[in-house]
Amino acid sequence: MVARSAQAGQFVRVLPWEKGELIPLTLADWDAENGTIDLVVQGMGTSSLEINRMAIGDAFSGIAGPLGRASELHRYEGNQTVVFCAGGVGLPPVYPIMRKHLRLGNHVTLISGFRAKEFLFWTGDDERIGKLKQEFGDQLSLIYTTNDGSYGVKGFVTGPLEEMIKANQQGIGRSIAEVIAIGPPLMMRAVSDLTKPYGVKTVASLNSIMVDATGMCGACMVPVTIDGKLVRKHACIDGPEIDAHIIDWDKFLPRFNAFKAQELESKRKHGFA
Ligand SMILES: Cc1cc2nc3c(=O)[nH]c(=O)nc-3n(C[C@H](O)[C@H](O)[C@H](O)COP(=O)(O)OP(=O)(O)OC[C@H]3O[C@@H](n4cnc5c(N)ncnc54)[C@H](O)[C@@H]3O)c2cc1C
Ligand code: FES
Repeated sequence: MVARSAQAGQFVRVLPWEKGELIPLTLADWDAENGTIDLVVQGMGTSSLEINRMAIGDAFSGIAGPLGRASELHRYEGNQTVVFCAGGVGLPPVYPIMRKHLRLGNHVTLISGFRAKEFLFWTGDDERIGKLKQEFGDQLSLIYTTNDGSYGVKGFVTGPLEEMIKANQQGIGRSIAEVIAIGPPLMMRAVSDLTKPYGVKTVASLNSIMVDATGMCGACMVPVTIDGKLVRKHACIDGPEIDAHIIDWDKFLPRFNAFKAQELESKRKHGFA
């Protein structure tokens, strides 16, 4: 069911076990014919660590979706490029969106950042990004960064992005049509802070705390400024993609620490801490 109606940019809610909690996970890929979906899960706390312990043949208690608004795509002509900034496990959510841009005929630049070489995935010639490169050739530019310089450019994804923006200012290189940032909240903020003064359109795919994902509970609220007024958007139904330059990051980021004590307590109860 989910695979048949899935669109790039959407997510699902997964109930790992009957008495567990529903957690949001992005659709990294799907096969409508076979009815399968691909999820990539980073072990953060109880639910995600339990999911990563599952073996072949195990099943989730429930899954709901697809949820959220699909990515809005535009056709960019000429010497323009759509830049994706992916941080760590931000790469799987980026993958179906960049593939859609490539199929639409847009040039894509992927700046994919990892902590170090050992955290790299999907980058080999016979893996997803490598295969896209083989299929689309010069239509796809790939830049990898690692914090420690063990692979690709040393530093964060913002390094090569800043170089591109500065080159653009001098009329060098492909002009950036838009930037799509998917990754840790601090990375998305850094990308937004960098592009804002240059007026480069930037979208962040928000991994806001979500509870019901139906627009009812209010847990996923994102403070945004529209026409000078501070209003709130629901990441679950208005997003997950939101114009990064209207987000009030100072108010948004502390929300991620709101349940730290409960998360630690839960990890302890399940033997993960
Ligand atoms: C739209 C969306 C798509 C996401 N896609 C992916 C994905 O493809 N792969 C992936 O590994 N992770 C993804 N996440 C994050 C994932 O939902 C959380 O890591 C997971 O819920 C953590 O739960 P936990 O019990 O393992 O950890 P906890 O100990 O409960 O929490 C650890 C941290 O995870 C985050 N978190 C916890 N509960 C939620 C929640 N209900 N909603 C959002 N964040 C939460 C918080 O930052 C928290 O501090 C996505 C989140 C959102 C909102
Ligand atoms: S998660 Fe409840 S309103 Fe969005």
